Amino acid sequence: MLIRSLLHRAIHAGTILLRNHQKCSTVWRETRHCSALVYREHSDNIDTVRMEQLLLPPVGDRSVRVHMLAAPVNPADMNMIQGSYPILCPLPAVGGNEGVGEVIEVGSDVTSLRLGDWAVPIDAGFGTWRTGAVCEEDEIISVPKDVSLLGAATIFVNPCTAYRMLHDFQTLTPGCTVIQNASNSAVGQAVIQIAAALGLKTINIIRDRPNRAELIDELQSLGADYVVTEEEVMSTGLHRVFETFFLGGTMVTYGGMSKRPLQIPAVISHLDVLSRHSCMLCLLCLTSLSADKAQLKAMLNAVCDLMRGGQLSAPHCIQTPFHQYTHALQATVQSHCRKHVLIM
Ligand SMILES: NC(=O)c1ccc[n+]([C@@H]2O[C@H](COP(=O)([O-])OP(=O)(O)OC[C@H]3O[C@@H](n4cnc5c(N)ncnc54)[C@H](OP(=O)(O)O)[C@@H]3O)[C@@H](O)[C@H]2O)c1
Repeated sequence: MLIRSLLHRAIHAGTILLRNHQKCSTVWRETRHCSALVYREHSDNIDTVRMEQLLLPPVGDRSVRVHMLAAPVNPADMNMIQGSYPILCPLPAVGGNEGVGEVIEVGSDVTSLRLGDWAVPIDAGFGTWRTGAVCEEDEIISVPKDVSLLGAATIFVNPCTAYRMLHDFQTLTPGCTVIQNASNSAVGQAVIQIAAALGLKTINIIRDRPNRAELIDELQSLGADYVVTEEEVMSTGLHRVFETFFLGGTMVTYGGMSKRPLQIPAVISHLDVLSRHSCMLCLLCLTSLSADKAQLKAMLNAVCDLMRGGQLSAPHCIQTPFHQYTHALQATVQSHCRKHVLIM
């Protein structure tokens, strides 16, 4: 599904990208055109991403036109631009893997989407950093409009990953404890909140920073039971306590922000391999769930229920006007920075 979809997009991307200096009539621009953040090569240099004009195909019987409303800049998006992510889009490509758009035109045979619906892409590689898109009905799924715009824009990658981690790897009952690092990340914030809703305790490790106290308050207000810095863990020997805690536990690795090989404490490396999971959760979600939209819908509804109930909020983020994208991309590759969400 994922591969098919990427190839499908490659064909579109190869044929419909225009250089930004091409001129268009106003009417044509309004109906057939969008602005998109395109990269034509892999590079660590953010300047490789440029705003270009994109010619959109007409809406077919089974496709829809979407006006993008908001899309986050996630670390994986940057890794895809750098060429260091396991999933890479054929070039040229539009950046961004998640975001929410409003359905503004619907093909005659479309059954799952209606005009005015909010929808999010199902697969990676959609290219959400754009003002508009035309896609097949099966490429996106509607989300309720009674959650916040930021909540909808960031629902798929991080809260769903946190949700799957807390549900799929071990049966966690109230009173169980979860230890995580990068706890201030969007995934980490979702883990704290979903865990609290499930009655689980969380020990949350962050990296030290000048405004540590403020961040600790923030995470505790989300429901974190304990927040400690990596430096405190190492200097107080707390890691030895955590190591014994791992016995009988399950370790899940879902990201690699340092881009360095994982260092696993000896006690964990001796555990049964089944207790250590290193995975691409989104990939798992996509391959197993995209085939079954009903299951995907059920997960999104469960996450939306938590949002409606006030148990899960959108990550603390900075809303950035679309045309100021350079700032958002630069900030995302820096330490101690909040998530940026592009507002179209
Ligand atoms: N497997 C999956 O399906 C899946 C799904 C979603 C996300 N992820 C992965 O989860 C990770 C977090 O994503 P996100 O969107 O939640 O991130 P985010 O909100 O942008 O936050 C980034 C986090 O990474 C930490 N960090 C940055 N550079 C680091 C480094 N060199 N060493 C250690 N920590 C570092 C940051 O800590 P500071 O604040 O101290 O800089 C912050 O906690 C990413 O690796 C992402 O690719 C995986």
